[in-house]
Amino acid sequence: MPGAFEGETLTRRGLMTGSALAAGGIATAAFGLPALGFALGPMLEDSTPTGWQQVGPEEDFNPETYVPKVVSIVPSIGEAGKTTIYVRQFNEQRDADVSADLPYVAISTRCTHLGCPVRYIQASAKFVCPCHGGVYGFEGEVEGGPPVRPLDRFHTRVTAAGVVEVGDRFSVNSQLERFPPRDPSNHLDGIWKYLYPPRPST
Ligand code: FES
Repeated sequence: MPGAFEGETLTRRGLMTGSALAAGGIATAAFGLPALGFALGPMLEDSTPTGWQQVGPEEDFNPETYVPKVVSIVPSIGEAGKTTIYVRQFNEQRDADVSADLPYVAISTRCTHLGCPVRYIQASAKFVCPCHGGVYGFEGEVEGGPPVRPLDRFHTRVTAAGVVEVGDRFSVNSQLERFPPRDPSNHLDGIWKYLYPPRPST
C-alpha cells in the first residue's frame, strides 16, 4: 500500500481520515436524530380518545348555538382542573365537511394566542377573547386579533342512551384538520406543525 510501512494494512492518514469521518457522523446523528424524532413523532402518535365525560342529553343541544358545559381536563387536581367548553350539534350548512364525522362540536375556551378564556357571544355568533382582542367565528376559526390558529376542540360521541359525551382535546389548523393538542401560540399550518410538536401535558 502506498505510504504504508511493510506489513501495515492501514496508513496513519487513513486512520485519521476514518476517525474524523466517524466523529463527524456521530455529531451529525446527535443533532439530526432528535430533530427527526421531533418532526415525525406527531405522525406516529395514537390520537384515539381515551377518556369520555358526559355533558348532557341530546335534547340539551341544537345546531344553531352553543351551550356552555363544565368538564374536567385534569381530574387529579379537583376543581382547579375543570374548564368550560361550548357544545352544539354539528351544523350541516355551516360546518366544514372535515368535521362531519363527529356528531357534536365541542369547542375549548382556551384562547390560542396566550390561553385566556374566550366567551361565546350569541348575538354575533363569535368567540371573543378579553385579553388582546382575539375574535373567532362560529366554528372557532380566527377572524381577528393575534390568535395563531382556530380554537381547540374535543372529540364527541353519543351513547346508546342518547347522552352526549366529550373525549380528549385536539387542535386544528386553519382548514380545521385535526392534530394532537398543541400549546397556545403554536402555529399549525405548513411547516409549523413540525416545528411545534405536541406535548403530553397540553
Ligand atoms: S390571549 Fe386571547 S387574544 Fe391574547
